[in-house]
Amino acid sequence: MTDQALSGRVALVTGGTRGIGLATARALVEAGATVVLTGRDEARAKEAAASVGASGLALDVTDAKAVSSLVRGVAKEHGKLDIVVANAGIMEDALLGMIREEAVDTTLSTNVAGTLHTVQAAARAMMRKKTGSIVVLASIVGEYGSAGQTLYAASKAAVANIARSAAKELGRSGIRVNAVAPGVIETDLTAGLSEDAKAENASRTPLGRLGRPEEVAKAIRFLVSDEASFITGQVLGIDGGLVL
Ligand SMILES: NC(=O)c1ccc[n+]([C@@H]2O[C@H](COP(=O)([O-])OP(=O)(O)OC[C@H]3O[C@@H](n4cnc5c(N)ncnc54)[C@H](OP(=O)(O)O)[C@@H]3O)[C@@H](O)[C@H]2O)c1
Repeated sequence: MTDQALSGRVALVTGGTRGIGLATARALVEAGATVVLTGRDEARAKEAAASVGASGLALDVTDAKAVSSLVRGVAKEHGKLDIVVANAGIMEDALLGMIREEAVDTTLSTNVAGTLHTVQAAARAMMRKKTGSIVVLASIVGEYGSAGQTLYAASKAAVANIARSAAKELGRSGIRVNAVAPGVIETDLTAGLSEDAKAENASRTPLGRLGRPEEVAKAIRFLVSDEASFITGQVLGIDGGLVL
């Protein structure tokens, strides 16, 4: 991708305070985009944003009205919205019999409803200009399943199908929608994995290691750019070959 390939573009990244979201915000800023990132706490969002040259706003993606109003506000302030990365997500691992009812609610409302709210609001904002690119965060476990992760895997399978269905619906409006499906990436989300589990995942991966947030961010940057102008409805694995 050429330098400044996203110059003049306006981008929103949800869950941008750390991990993959923050790396994505940084990658989009480096490519010349004007970036707004969000997190649940305003001070944390502003601090993270300042560290990468973006602006930061508070947003809980489980709140449909708040998502709609924030997306409208960003599009109004900047005159348009070209790129949305629906990245906010949570993971709570548990064997089937141990899944907490509260975790079902929070996981589905954050990962599934939160992504749906974000894609819905993005589509409304992009429809007017008949152009735009959306990326959502699925997971390899949503594609292939994972013992001890039934709840999370189900939520991420839904996210992948939000991308596929929205791509079908929005293509004629000039809006592309894709998903990335990371393997095990070293962030706060996976920090709770035991060293043994990390080593096992790394050894099952042909590249022999876990992934870095920047490696997911670069793939997202490609998908939202004009380089990917004929790619929509795809779920791109970024997993070092883990599922081979
Ligand atoms: N790391 C991996 O191995 C991996 C693999 C596959 C898929 N993914 C997916 O990639 C995405 C990012 O993961 P990550 O590893 O970077 O996670 P992370 O380091 O835990 O960061 C999660 C981000 O989501 C935000 N967030 C959580 N709940 C939110 C809510 N209700 N409303 C708004 N923001 C919320 C957090 O912001 P605040 O806490 O500041 O609000 C934070 O910025 C997630 O969707 C995850 O499921 C990750």
